[in-house]
Amino acid sequence: QQSTEQWRPAIHFSPKKNWTNDPNGLIYINGNYHLFFQHNPQGNEWGNMSWGHAKSKDLLHWEELPLAIPHGKEYIFSGCVVYDKDHVSVLGDPSKPLLIAIYTADYPNTLQEQHLAFSNDEGLTWTKYAQNPVLSINLKDFRDPNIIYHGPSKQFVMTVVKPWEYTAQFYGSKDLIHWSLLSEFGPQGDVDMIWECPSLLELPVENSKEKKWVLALSSQGPYKKAVGMQYFVGNFDGKTFTNDAPKEQVNYVDYGRDFYAAIPFYNTANTETFWLGWMLSWSYAKEQPTFPWKGQMSLARTLSLVRTSQGLKLKQVLKPDLTKMKPSFEAKNLVLKGSKTLSGMKFLQSKTYVIELKVDAANAKQWGIELGDEAKQNPELTRIGFDEKSQDWFIDRRLSGEIPAPGFDVIQSAPFVAGEDKVMQLVVDRSTIELLAQDGLVAISSLRFPKKKETVRLVSLGGELRIKELRIWEVK
Ligand code: FRU
Repeated sequence: QQSTEQWRPAIHFSPKKNWTNDPNGLIYINGNYHLFFQHNPQGNEWGNMSWGHAKSKDLLHWEELPLAIPHGKEYIFSGCVVYDKDHVSVLGDPSKPLLIAIYTADYPNTLQEQHLAFSNDEGLTWTKYAQNPVLSINLKDFRDPNIIYHGPSKQFVMTVVKPWEYTAQFYGSKDLIHWSLLSEFGPQGDVDMIWECPSLLELPVENSKEKKWVLALSSQGPYKKAVGMQYFVGNFDGKTFTNDAPKEQVNYVDYGRDFYAAIPFYNTANTETFWLGWMLSWSYAKEQPTFPWKGQMSLARTLSLVRTSQGLKLKQVLKPDLTKMKPSFEAKNLVLKGSKTLSGMKFLQSKTYVIELKVDAANAKQWGIELGDEAKQNPELTRIGFDEKSQDWFIDRRLSGEIPAPGFDVIQSAPFVAGEDKVMQLVVDRSTIELLAQDGLVAISSLRFPKKKETVRLVSLGGELRIKELRIWEVK
């Protein structure tokens, strides 16, 4: 098989070779961000599920480390890592820092239960706990534990799901080994597909001193739907999570097909909460046309809540915020009609860059950015922008190059948040595109596999576009 390194993202993590899906055990320790990941160490398809391992100082450059937790009879499914600062678990060497991984042990088609492993060397090697499981309810599908320390109730709280019941359960523990049921949440929100990979987060509400609890989780969408991840905003009192919104209300995290199973980083040095997700979709994951790897992670995103005309909404901002760098190009107060190729910037040709477009007013029907070749006939084209008629942000990848599976060639769209500015930020990193619009209130993450060398064009269709500001960053 031919290698496809031209599609390998530069600042997004992907394993050197073989398969990955969910990020696992995201944790900061001793100057490094650690990323564990669902991994098949033997092949470029799902199987032999084990935990791979990588670390990074800046969330952009990743160093892959040896396999962390290999499978045995049991597959090592998704889970989390906790820093047991006070050695409450009394495992391992008491004189060394202790990491505890709690993950789902999957006995294919039989049973899923929660297991523990510990590490005294910053996650390089792990010992599986001899008395596993630490939690079992004898259910075939019961998975994806994610643990926080809840200060007010002085306990660790695990969130875990019963996928087919659209239910999250909360368990409490003082020592990370004995767990007792606190409460259940669900079914609520989107219950079309099974629930996976939950996490409980406490997020600041911008421009206030308030904090709110958020329950985020993944449910895989069929092609016809945008859903990948959803969230609920409410309260958690150490026992029960209550949703502030009506039961039926659905909040999506990202309207692209390629953002799934995101979980937050723990033990970070600051009070910010940020996460990253798997940048692919189960709908066509096995058809990702790359070799010798399959699957990649999104960039990290800092999370907060914003009061909008539509209530509290999740906001996601790049971490690190690449737009804080000095731009490579800047222009103000442009008027555009039709299409203009951004020439003279070599790095825009099939490499890694960020574009930000702030728009004043448009009587155009559609505007945005086009990536593609200049062919007059059957051009290759990825369109990213805003539709003034439907008031939707979109990524249109119908003609974006290789279509690896039927149904990949779709327009992915997200509703405009009324009352907020028309700003779009776009990170293009080879085969990955992340659109963060309206200062991060709208996200669309999407892969595409161009076959030709592309240029970048500013486009205003059916009328005039007044651009307040255009900024472009080369990411070296
Ligand atoms: C989500 C998921 C998890 C599971 C893992 C297995 O993508 O299905 O529920 O733990 O992948 O690889």
